Amino acid sequence: MTPLRKLFSPIRIGKMEVRNRIAMAPVTTGWAPAGGTFPDRMIDYFEERAKGGVGLIMCETVTVDEAFPYIMQSLGLWSDELIPSFKRFVDAVHAHGAKVAPQISHPGPESFSFLKGIQPVGPSPVLCKLSGQMCRELATEEIGPIVEQYGEAARRAREAGCDAIELHAAHSYMLAGSFLSPLRNRRTDAYGGTADGRLRFLLDVLASVESKAGRDLPVILRLSGDEYLPGGRDLRDTQYIAPKLVDAGVDAFEVSAGVEPELMWRIIPPMGTPLGLNLPVAAAIKQVVSVPVMVVGRVNDPRLAEDMLRNGHADMVVMGRALVADPELPNKAAEGRFEDIVPCTGCSMGCVGEQMKLRTLTCVINPTVGREKEMAIVRAAKPKKVLVAGGGPGGLEAARVAAIRGHDVTLCEKEAKLGGQLNLACVAPMKQEISLWIQYLAVQVKKRGVKVRLNQLVTPDLVGEMKPDVLIVSTGGRAVIPPIPGADGAKVIHAHDILAGKLGIMRGKVVVIGGGVVGCEVADLLADSAENPMNAGNAITIVEMLDDIAIDEVPSAKMLLVARLREKGVRTITSATVKKITEDGVVITRGGKEETLGNLSHIVLSCGTKPVDDLSSKIEGTVPEVYVIGDAKEARSALEAIAEGARIARRI
Ligand SMILES: Cc1cc2nc3c(=O)[nH]c(=O)nc-3n(C[C@H](O)[C@H](O)[C@H](O)COP(=O)(O)O)c2cc1C
Repeated sequence: MTPLRKLFSPIRIGKMEVRNRIAMAPVTTGWAPAGGTFPDRMIDYFEERAKGGVGLIMCETVTVDEAFPYIMQSLGLWSDELIPSFKRFVDAVHAHGAKVAPQISHPGPESFSFLKGIQPVGPSPVLCKLSGQMCRELATEEIGPIVEQYGEAARRAREAGCDAIELHAAHSYMLAGSFLSPLRNRRTDAYGGTADGRLRFLLDVLASVESKAGRDLPVILRLSGDEYLPGGRDLRDTQYIAPKLVDAGVDAFEVSAGVEPELMWRIIPPMGTPLGLNLPVAAAIKQVVSVPVMVVGRVNDPRLAEDMLRNGHADMVVMGRALVADPELPNKAAEGRFEDIVPCTGCSMGCVGEQMKLRTLTCVINPTVGREKEMAIVRAAKPKKVLVAGGGPGGLEAARVAAIRGHDVTLCEKEAKLGGQLNLACVAPMKQEISLWIQYLAVQVKKRGVKVRLNQLVTPDLVGEMKPDVLIVSTGGRAVIPPIPGADGAKVIHAHDILAGKLGIMRGKVVVIGGGVVGCEVADLLADSAENPMNAGNAITIVEMLDDIAIDEVPSAKMLLVARLREKGVRTITSATVKKITEDGVVITRGGKEETLGNLSHIVLSCGTKPVDDLSSKIEGTVPEVYVIGDAKEARSALEAIAEGARIARRI
């Protein structure tokens, strides 16, 4: 019996009854093909989440107009021909008892229609900072046909069997969100000028949905409770429009906050930001409407969700990344199996980060995302003796999967604790949640019967003794020492040693060589030291070769990291090359000029990681199957390490 009674009680939105109070947020996957249909992998992905117990699925943005896709390609409901494909998705979700509310939107300024030679449109000419494109202002007479497109898309959703629709009007984003926001709507006709004028587009859309899809199709509205930007809509304005929206047919609100891209960290909140950060604005909307209010934004723990609902601050929670990380989160929570929930830390490396690199949705801690069928874990035909050398994330994941498959697995870690380099990654400010991955994986390997041996280096002799059928080398990486003259000087230290806590409190002036995310985080950490107050003295300087720092961090986390560094007085020097390290200084060249940063107490090297594999070449021919994974193969991130561990363990 679940202790989370409120979370697992049914809720009614209009005429739709949802089995529990967990909804899945719209999360763009990058899998939608050019034609706007549902690819099989997306259906499998949603089916898995419906099976995992979620109450309601709000799939990613569905465009109402083929000419205006969201980003480059998106799902669509612009033509009746798309209904059968949509129906396949809806039927797959319904088969497992979940309800469906697609997010219907005209992407407006956020469309990448310009790639096809069509200028994006908006209420006023505004710059989409994501694409760098200016949109053109819609003429008043162009608005009616777009409003009709919304209604037609809602009708098609209904014909495909959807239980409800969601309209996206949040974040001063896409067309409806732009019309609603004074930041983007500078019109002087009936669709602008005042709060009521800016509301008119949405009211027309709601009327169109009602006339084409029927009043009884429930409508959920995604809204920023507060835009939190000067000149934007504030909470009081939203409280003013919310009852009017209910009168016009809104059956529930999904409350987010902030605007894109300035307050991206509020919309896709990174690790370290408060859990459920939008709850206060959701609660404030709840005060003025009688329909259900949902809250979205880092609600990743079902116990916290229960608390939010029990306290009456919201009626339903919406989870995005948490359900990407673990499709079974609801069922596990219902069974009280909290330690088995795959933890979403908000890192966004797999979901946002990969799409920024023009790849598609994945998840650091769940590499099966979008490969649910292909990566289903099946029992091994022949159980084998598996030795995993190294208890970092890749090794732990490999051990976990191999053990589930029925192999006899031993994992050896040379240090006294599991986690490998994740133990360093979770030290910097706001990064502590990374430790949840270690805790989760450590519990799982134990539960699956993996024999864990700490303080045990795997040597060729040990391999000879143990005679495994399979050896997985996941021995991680070590810091790169760059070929800079003086890099072996007395005042030179390594970022990894600071993160490992080996050096204690440091005083004086410091230069960090390397402004990747690790170098920036080390500076962030050092600047927090009470013994080293950061002030006008510019006690910490980051020197980076590229023209920007932390380029390997996702935008929302980078935004906060850079702001913290600035607040703490950390100086950054970019496009600079370090020529040499002297006894107490660093000589750099920038723009053809040489400069010395002197009087330093420490010079910190943060120049990347290189593979550590002292094993595979020494045991050649003695073990039938040998695999090298993660940083031991090639220094990268936990994402690749876990993905490789997951893949290899399914193959053996
Ligand atoms: C990869 C990714 C894609 C997203 N795509 C959409 C989208 O298509 N439409 C939308 O309204 N929100 C989108 N969001 C925002 C989420 O719906 C949600 O508001 C946000 O992730 C915060 O919730 P969470 O902390 O539970 O993930 C996306 C978020 C992520 C991480």
